[in-house]
Amino acid sequence: MAQLWGGRFTKETDQLVYNFNASISFDQKFYKQDIKGSIAHATMLGETGIITKEESAKIIEGLNGILADVEAGNLEISSKYEDIHSFVEATLIDRIGDTGKKLHTGRSRNDQVALDMKLYTRDEVVAIKELIKELLLTLHKLMKENLDTYMPGFTHLQKAQPVTFAHHVGAYMEMFKRDYDRLSDIYDRMNYCPLGAGALAGTTYPLDRELTAKLLDFYGPTLNSMDSVSDRDYLIELLSAMSTICMHLSRFSEEIIIWNSNEYQFIELDDSYSTGSSIMPQKKNPDIAELVRGKTGRVYGALISLLTTMKGIPLAYNKDMQEDKELTFDAMDTVKGCIALFNGMISTMKLNKDKMKASAMNGFTNATDAADYLVKNGVPFRDAHGIIGKLVLYCIDNNKAIDELTLEELKEISPVFKDDIYDAISLETCVEKRNTIGAPGPEAMKQVIEINEKFLSNI
Ligand code: ARG
Repeated sequence: MAQLWGGRFTKETDQLVYNFNASISFDQKFYKQDIKGSIAHATMLGETGIITKEESAKIIEGLNGILADVEAGNLEISSKYEDIHSFVEATLIDRIGDTGKKLHTGRSRNDQVALDMKLYTRDEVVAIKELIKELLLTLHKLMKENLDTYMPGFTHLQKAQPVTFAHHVGAYMEMFKRDYDRLSDIYDRMNYCPLGAGALAGTTYPLDRELTAKLLDFYGPTLNSMDSVSDRDYLIELLSAMSTICMHLSRFSEEIIIWNSNEYQFIELDDSYSTGSSIMPQKKNPDIAELVRGKTGRVYGALISLLTTMKGIPLAYNKDMQEDKELTFDAMDTVKGCIALFNGMISTMKLNKDKMKASAMNGFTNATDAADYLVKNGVPFRDAHGIIGKLVLYCIDNNKAIDELTLEELKEISPVFKDDIYDAISLETCVEKRNTIGAPGPEAMKQVIEINEKFLSNI
């Protein structure tokens, strides 16, 4: 047991209490951020004359040495310390002697841990944004390559109207663009430095909080010391944004699983992203898509868990807040893995364009266009809807598609049909005529692709 705070105690901590309380097994994940924060704090203490310049330099040199040794594997982060803050401070004192004891002047572990977690999270937000960007680039490429890859669009998982693969993928492009922007917003809102808040009420030392904020690349210091040590909103926002990312990935995964099924065969996942069965030799399973879908639950769980942890905590710091770490770390690692794997999976999958097109051609996806044809020839829409409904019934009874009917058969149902109906309801026409912005027609899609091109070149 190695603790920083034994002074007022007359008894040793019970071993079970110590273990229950300790956080070193997980907060060692941000040793780098802890040392970086301490270097900024020591620099500021030297600049303001709270400690001498020499003392500051000695502390900084010691901290850099600890960082280098941990990175090189020459210094093990020992679990005999309560937390990463105690490990770094005790190692510093071991190495440079009494000067090391001055590092914690004007600081509490409460503002220190708030800082470490923010620094760690800020780097993760940048890393997740980078992965989303990679995914956006893959989607953009798929869109550009598939402007005329026809497929059915679905509602209720029933064929509805024809679209293109570019248009379908474009829907996810919009979702992940919003996800990217959400992460940028979170970064901007969280990027204020809590260091200097002390335990909860600031300190009596003339700390230069502007300086430490600047040294650590924050926009500025936080404005209320009690909020600074007890704010976990940015983690809740991030967990919420990550839950939304997972929800998007999970929906897309579900579609990949459906498209890759023996019944659909719209796509084929690459062997490198599929797995086999231990008993059924013929199997090639979409495990990656299923895992991405499955892991979504963990990330949602982390969000609900932290919201629940935070809801009854009076100001300011309480130990409950230590619970923010394991679940947020797990969620961040999970999300990074999911995005990277998902991106690899969709950039290697093969499209079975013929199957997609054949599927779009049957199932009456052109029924709306047939009704629109009647409308353009003077039939009120509600009547046209009824006529085409009858036509579909006739087709089902005779096992034919609408465009496989003869003009005589069509005229039997409505005399308005002329031989230009075939062109009006061809798959190509159904898609190509839909050219208002946001629709699957090629002109509309090209405009969107251009907008996306600009979005991608600005991120
Ligand atoms: N391990 C603690 C946490 O993660 C660090 C802060 C400890 N502060 C305290 N007053 N016990 O929240």
